[in-house]
Amino acid sequence: MSECYWEERYQTGDMPWEKGEPSPGVVDFIADNPELPRGTVLVPGCGTGHDVRVWAKAGFQATGMDLAPSAMRLAHERTVAANLKAEFVQGDFLRDTPKQPFDWLFEHTLFCAIQLEERNLYVEAVKRWLKPSGNFVAVFYMIDEKDGPPFGTKRDELVKRFSPHFDLVKEWVPRSYPNRTGLELMMWWRRK
Ligand SMILES: C[S@@+](CC[C@H](N)C(=O)[O-])C[C@H]1O[C@@H](n2cnc3c(N)ncnc32)[C@H](O)[C@@H]1O
Repeated sequence: MSECYWEERYQTGDMPWEKGEPSPGVVDFIADNPELPRGTVLVPGCGTGHDVRVWAKAGFQATGMDLAPSAMRLAHERTVAANLKAEFVQGDFLRDTPKQPFDWLFEHTLFCAIQLEERNLYVEAVKRWLKPSGNFVAVFYMIDEKDGPPFGTKRDELVKRFSPHFDLVKEWVPRSYPNRTGLELMMWWRRK
């Protein structure tokens, strides 16, 4: 989907993914793993930045990226209001090149938002934006939807796509927003 498509959804307030709070899965992940080495983290497709602020609050040097300029404006405003520090850049995660690769990359409802034929580009982008041995933590939306966005996926597809390039550290079913309970899978991968 194009920048115009996503920007219009923010401008018209058509954003059912916006829950006014971070993904419960990432909140628990960070709380349950206080020893994670701090470093830089990229949250692509971050929307208004709820997940970015969780990483920033925990002491990571957090960057949010999104195609939609309005999302980046809202994310910046809300981060200032929360008295937190994070950088927000408008850009295309699938096609842009990082100035510096990141230690961590966190996925939440971007993989399901892109076109099915862009999923190869997505895997290449995660490799490009992460340092060697960098960590890729993802909340995948495990729905059975072919007419998205959001588009569904299955565990087998995720393993097939990511395991050639990443080692699976851990996977689990996270706590979710009420309307997504049991429909998410968290995976923690490390780049080979
Ligand atoms: C379903 S929304 C999820 C937003 C946020 N992760 C959340 O859960 O609140 C998908 C987001 O990905 C952004 N997006 C779509 N394609 C993108 C791309 N190629 N690069 C960066 N952001 C993209 C959209 O603008 C939108 O904000």
